[in-house]
Amino acid sequence: MPRPSLRLTPPTGWMNDPNGFIHSGGRYHLFYQHNPYAPRWGRMHWGHAVSDDLIRWEHLPVALGPDSFWDGALGCFSGSAIERGGELCLLYTGVSILGQYQMLARSGDGVAFAKRRRPVIGRRLLPPGGSGRAFRDPKLFERDGAFYCVVGGDWKPEAPAAGGRSRAVRGTQVSLYRSDDLVEWRYVGPLLRGVLPDGGVFECPDYIRVDGKDVLIASPMHLPRNDEGEFENLHSTVYLPGALDLERGLFEPDDGPGVYRELDGGTDFYAAQTTTAPDGRALMVAWMQMWKRTMPTEAEGWAGAMTVPRELSYEGGRLRQRPVRELERYWADEVRGPVGSIDGVEPLPAVGDGPFDIELAVDLGSSSRFGVRLFVPTGSAPPEPDGPCLIVAYDRSSETLSIDRSRAPVAISSSDRREAQCLTRATRLRLDGRLLRLRLIVDGPYVELFGDDGACALSTLYYAPGDHRGAAVISDGPARVVELVRRRIAI
Ligand code: FRU
Repeated sequence: MPRPSLRLTPPTGWMNDPNGFIHSGGRYHLFYQHNPYAPRWGRMHWGHAVSDDLIRWEHLPVALGPDSFWDGALGCFSGSAIERGGELCLLYTGVSILGQYQMLARSGDGVAFAKRRRPVIGRRLLPPGGSGRAFRDPKLFERDGAFYCVVGGDWKPEAPAAGGRSRAVRGTQVSLYRSDDLVEWRYVGPLLRGVLPDGGVFECPDYIRVDGKDVLIASPMHLPRNDEGEFENLHSTVYLPGALDLERGLFEPDDGPGVYRELDGGTDFYAAQTTTAPDGRALMVAWMQMWKRTMPTEAEGWAGAMTVPRELSYEGGRLRQRPVRELERYWADEVRGPVGSIDGVEPLPAVGDGPFDIELAVDLGSSSRFGVRLFVPTGSAPPEPDGPCLIVAYDRSSETLSIDRSRAPVAISSSDRREAQCLTRATRLRLDGRLLRLRLIVDGPYVELFGDDGACALSTLYYAPGDHRGAAVISDGPARVVELVRRRIAI
């Protein structure tokens, strides 16, 4: 199985959530949930990598590991980073036999971290209705000289159910805390509350201001699928544009209570974390994987990868996501075309070995469905119409952009029955007469798809051992390819 060269993967062992994403000391740091001992989740460490440009990463020694009472049960769970007084500070969740609490670690050189002995947000500071059994993933930010963090966790609604009988409702909340020195914290208020199936919690909450807009991000577990086909993964990553009131500890979502927008509609995307670049850009990275799935790379001793970092913008009332512009420095061997009319299947000439960046603009004409096939076998026999490939398609009547990996030679399944299937995903994309614009970043089995200039994103994994480098465009009815550019990413 080819290792991605563009995306950060663990040197060995397991990787999940991005942690501590920050620009500090002249370079980007990206930490991650890590089990160095096996390609499976285990007691959590923080892996650590650094980069000058968000594209080429260099591994540094593991930054945190379970070595104290406070993280002795399940290790050092997710968290974030901030700079203070020339030090790089990490706020993370320690999981002990007593529960989950927020811990602080600091470093003068950005490599070796010293932990504070006791939690800085411990039992005494639990939010109202929080038990401390699920209380995790602090995300730091700074505003007007003060430090804040948002923390996810459980929440027991106080009011008994109608009729006087108290029901054991297990809810979830995102709590806001404030500090002047990262050590003494004070609870400010709940930013978000809800009830998710099976006691699911909002994991990995995040807050960032994008183009002047307050955006709250969270990863709700077990969020049920909606009628639009969103939230089909076992766990989802959502965002809520709104207004944050730091004084009162309130977040007012623009869409009203209980309405979430999916950040990425693909099969493999979770636990997104943001940071602000020195030039002011809002950046985001996420774990490109989903819990409870078969992970074919396990056999090779590693599992998990990050997305390519994305730039966020807030335009026309919605977030847009685009791969960071630093990627363009690595473009090579550009191949343009073929452009022109298409009706049926048109194979694309090979470009060489990946990773690739593919951009496509299509005038849909009278096509009812337009798509791209990737990972088509490149053996001597001509490709079969129903042979293995990843299908990316735009469906005109339902206005949906979809990915379909049901023909993959290496099948991926979920061991959790709550996830009906993990082979196809679709997301709504209204074009209102605009050209269909697609961008695909393909790197080994990792495919990130962006539609309509980042208005929607679908990330997915497709495993195909052997030579599957063919590609084709396909249209049901006449359409016109206006632009087709393929570039190798020379990394
Ligand atoms: C999300 C998560 C976090 C937790 C971490 C443990 O994927 O469950 O809530 O901190 O992973 O590895």
